[in-house]
Amino acid sequence: MKNRRSFLKTACKPLVLAALSIPVLEACSSEETPNNPIIGSSTNETPTEPLVINIADGLFADLLSIGGWINYTAKNLLLIRISEAEVRAFDNSCPHQGNRDRWSLNGAKFECGYHNNSYSTECSGSLKCYTATLEDTTLTVTF
Ligand code: FES
Repeated sequence: MKNRRSFLKTACKPLVLAALSIPVLEACSSEETPNNPIIGSSTNETPTEPLVINIADGLFADLLSIGGWINYTAKNLLLIRISEAEVRAFDNSCPHQGNRDRWSLNGAKFECGYHNNSYSTECSGSLKCYTATLEDTTLTVTF
């Protein structure tokens, strides 16, 4: 009995649980965080005036690289750098149920983390696309 008590006091917790036939579960939450930076708090308002963004601003720095993207939730926008000359801007409302905050990029498609539906990064896809012009580091989105 003394040996058992001594063992329990000194052994690491998972080993003790395993020795007592209690399954040890790893933290494997399905609440994964999106793999992109979310900028700003979510809002239900879609801007009406053209939005001008300096992508050299640290918050938007991911857009300096081709393939970089952000979920700009403060303005309900998914932004993705397509080429040296092009950034595309989409409404970040998922066409399925309208969620805005769990996007990831999988190849050339945005994937919504709620039900794993994927949407093209082409303006001809299901996501609402806005006109976006890029001059140097100044991005203008027109709604
Ligand atoms: S809300 Fe986006 S896939 Fe269902």
